[in-house]
Amino acid sequence: MSAGKERWGTRIGLILAMAGNAVGLGNFLRFPVQAASNGGGAFMIPYFLSLILLGIPLMWIEWSLGRYGGVRGSGSTPGILDAIWKSRIAKYVGALGIFMPFIVMVYYTYVESWSLGFSLLSIIGAFPETGGIEEMTHFLRAYQGAEMHESGMFGNVDTGAFIFPGLAYGFFLFTLGANLWFLYRGLSGGIEKVALYGLPALFLFAIVLMVRVLTLGTPDPAVPENSISTGLGFIWNPDLSALSNPQVWLAAAGQIFFTLSLGMGSIHVYASYLSDKDDVALSGLSTSATNETAEVIMGGTIAIPAAVAFFGVAATTQLAAGGSFNLGFVTMPVIFQQLPMGDLFGALWFFLLFIAGITSSLAMGQVVIRFLTDEFGMTRSRAVAVLGVVVFLCTQPVVLFIEFAYMDELDFWAGTFGLFVFGAIEVILFAWVFGIDRGWSEIMKGADIRLPRIYKFILAWVTPLLMIVILLAWTWLNAPSVLLMEGVPEETRPYIIGARVFMLASLAAFFYLIRRAWRDKEGPRARERERARAA
Ligand code: ALA
Repeated sequence: MSAGKERWGTRIGLILAMAGNAVGLGNFLRFPVQAASNGGGAFMIPYFLSLILLGIPLMWIEWSLGRYGGVRGSGSTPGILDAIWKSRIAKYVGALGIFMPFIVMVYYTYVESWSLGFSLLSIIGAFPETGGIEEMTHFLRAYQGAEMHESGMFGNVDTGAFIFPGLAYGFFLFTLGANLWFLYRGLSGGIEKVALYGLPALFLFAIVLMVRVLTLGTPDPAVPENSISTGLGFIWNPDLSALSNPQVWLAAAGQIFFTLSLGMGSIHVYASYLSDKDDVALSGLSTSATNETAEVIMGGTIAIPAAVAFFGVAATTQLAAGGSFNLGFVTMPVIFQQLPMGDLFGALWFFLLFIAGITSSLAMGQVVIRFLTDEFGMTRSRAVAVLGVVVFLCTQPVVLFIEFAYMDELDFWAGTFGLFVFGAIEVILFAWVFGIDRGWSEIMKGADIRLPRIYKFILAWVTPLLMIVILLAWTWLNAPSVLLMEGVPEETRPYIIGARVFMLASLAAFFYLIRRAWRDKEGPRARERERARAA
């Protein structure tokens, strides 16, 4: 069956797959780091406002655009934008919705593979037993190949130019292989099955970990201020003073985009397998609600309160600010090592991350598969093979230059800034080019709930204006220093430039493919598409 004619097996399967698309490493790794390094409670007000004014509206937009494109024979964003915007550049703008998930998949799958590796390392009791943060940091860096480990346990090879991370590479190959296998099995036979088993397991593991963390109390009675209640207070006591800090707003909005997989093209692709009569209003809301439960209730209850209980607020903030993976891959194992059955809890934690990761990376991969099958008439197996080879090759610099911020650069442009840009374009096109009246009836078509009409106003005015303000603020506050690599050490610059060249080349390649696909539309595929459109 060609990918375009596939369907979700069941409604629950679709909802879980969409939730799996959204619930990812972002919920359990990125959210705690963002919340802790932006003042805890200070972060949560802009976060919830961003959810209500940007996240949920965009979720509805992306679900309905996906369904709109899908019933017209185009599941990926170049085709969708071409269908709603009669402009020659529409399809090229839509390229962003393939470019972003592709770039994110290139580094995301690698981080996902660390979770699997760490889960197994935890269960076999390989973590340093008595060491603190410093020793665990060294352990993580050695696993990643950022430095050598004296025991040689990771099979790393120092080539002089870089360290080849033996064990990490093995887990990466396995993880990429697993992704490709499930993608090859297809929508209902692969992606949906992973979600049907994976999401309940993920929630179960998260509940077990939450209960464990919430019963930590005051781990060191000699330091009573470091306790679970201080940790919960840190994240839940609102701090209104931060509302005037634009960086906190940018971080909160960026987190909402990343965690809900918005501006990424993957919600569209999953929704493109719906029929015209299927609901998007309630389903979009359920996706957001499930994701937020996993993020705020579970993601927020595990890493931050546990870190505060063991290390205090100041050290937690500092640890979070020191790197995106510190809380998840360093602090958590150190904490687990101090608990009875710590290896088991560690394994649960990292396996939870792995499930969260794979259900999201499958969505990113499916974007590219849908593009290749829809626009080039490739079979699914061929599209999976192409994706596999390209992702494998493009991940090499991520693996080998981990020490030199190559991955951070990809994450910054494709995982943060690019999502704002594409999100802003989408909402403006939806509300103002497609038209808010048509847009609203598109959202309400087949809807299982009645949405408050205030949201029509929000979609038309508030979300677009906020997106524009965010983009301008970002450009004003961050663009010059980021673009000019201010504060970046001299030896790191070539890698950052390399990452930029790679991203520009990928974008150019997608433009080229889109141009070719549309040129071919004059041929037999175009007629087939026309027939589908007429039917
Ligand atoms: N939404 C996915 C995550 O949170 C990408 O990791």
